[in-house]
Amino acid sequence: MGRKWTMAVLLAAGLVLSTGGVSAQGNGGAPNQNAASAFDNKIIKKISADNMYNHIAYLSEVPRQAGTEGEVRGVRYIESHFKQYGYETEVQPFPIYSVIRNNASGLLEIGGQNLRPYVMSGSYSGEATAEVINVGLAQKGTVPDAVKGKIALIERGDITFVEKIQNVFDKGAVGVIMYNNSGTSNAFGQAAYGQNIPAVSITRAQGLSLVEQLKNGPLTAHIKVTGSGLEEKTSYNVIAKMKPHKNKDTGQIVMIGAHHDSVANGPGANDDASGVSAVLELARVMANMPIDTELRFVTFGSEELGLLGSYHYAGTLSSEEADRMVAHFQMDMIGSKDAGGNNKANGLIMYTIDGKKNLVTDLASAAGARTALGEVVPYGQLGRSDHQPFHELGIPAALFIHSPLEKWYHTPADTIDKIDKNKLQETAEIVGASVYQIARPDTPSLIHSRVAPKPVDYDFENRPPGA
Ligand code: BES
Ligand code: ZN
Repeated sequence: MGRKWTMAVLLAAGLVLSTGGVSAQGNGGAPNQNAASAFDNKIIKKISADNMYNHIAYLSEVPRQAGTEGEVRGVRYIESHFKQYGYETEVQPFPIYSVIRNNASGLLEIGGQNLRPYVMSGSYSGEATAEVINVGLAQKGTVPDAVKGKIALIERGDITFVEKIQNVFDKGAVGVIMYNNSGTSNAFGQAAYGQNIPAVSITRAQGLSLVEQLKNGPLTAHIKVTGSGLEEKTSYNVIAKMKPHKNKDTGQIVMIGAHHDSVANGPGANDDASGVSAVLELARVMANMPIDTELRFVTFGSEELGLLGSYHYAGTLSSEEADRMVAHFQMDMIGSKDAGGNNKANGLIMYTIDGKKNLVTDLASAAGARTALGEVVPYGQLGRSDHQPFHELGIPAALFIHSPLEKWYHTPADTIDKIDKNKLQETAEIVGASVYQIARPDTPSLIHSRVAPKPVDYDFENRPPGA
């Protein structure tokens, strides 16, 4: 079975290459689809796993948690290398907010009784004494003007906590009491930066009791929150651009990404200094190549906090710019010697958000067979990295990673000694060859194609998501 699909993919890859790659074989007969073309060689022969390893060694000396000096140290290193390779660079700052919870305590007194509320994560520390008003689910457009100067009693559900708080804050509420929509817990909820009113949560039973009491007449509450808040910090994306020659420009943009932040106290050698090292190495190798496509090499900050850097970057793109993006290659955890198990392709897999193949997986799967890995690369369905925001913009995107994960994932033991240069080399070759296949001037423009130039046939077409 393996052979059947291998052939199918390779034949299809041959079709993709038929715009120029095959003549490089020079044998006058059928080209060997399993071998690197002369075009591939222009890239892959220059890729050095030692360079990548050295980048990882430097970056993993210090944790790079978003918003810390460690991140800044990494950002400086990355930018200086992009510059050294001749790229136009941009360090793009964006705000992040970390929760302060120092013996956080909350008081909610109504009728001489303390309801012992939970302090919502990130709640402003402050105090208010005011009448309570029931505003239901606090959806936009339903909050009455009468909430001004009052404490809003809100039911959990339908929209986010932050949206609910914002809707009453915008109308002048001085405090928030949120009650649960099920169960017996009072520990839930979060507030956002700038929502400068105390916000506490209570159980469903407590909330329904207040709703009933309010039917009989006004209630005054005293809320007090201490030891809680949100601190603003700055995180960064690092962007390097290479524009094509203006006579050759197809208008296309290809993105090559990784995230440079690590978890707290994690040296993040594999997660994701490995991906950053490949972004840097591919930037070095591809600098000054003749291309018809703009290349953007980007390392994102705050991926570990919820893909914040990539969402920020995606949010800065104009729709015209996003429309010109034909592919996003995300490399995240591409070098662990302890990941991948005994799976084929050394455990390398490409994950898409919808579990469907796309331009990125088609090109890279075929490139896997022509380069150091020597095998097609399978695909599956998973988010959890910076390919997500690009997928949401309609850009073909995939995450390159080894599965199963190493046991050092998100631990202080994610260190340089666990890095395998072969895995780095294999992945960088695959991504490099795929990017060059789009960007080299002799292949046709892909704008708006949203699919591979020719279909690639995988045997696992109908397998369950994530399998
Ligand atoms: N490198 C991981 C992503 C990952 C982990 C992909 C395991 C596939 C399998 C990434 O840095 C990460 O840890 N992401 C977070 C999610 C994010 C939205 C905060 C995660 O998976 O917990
Ligand atoms: Zn990661």
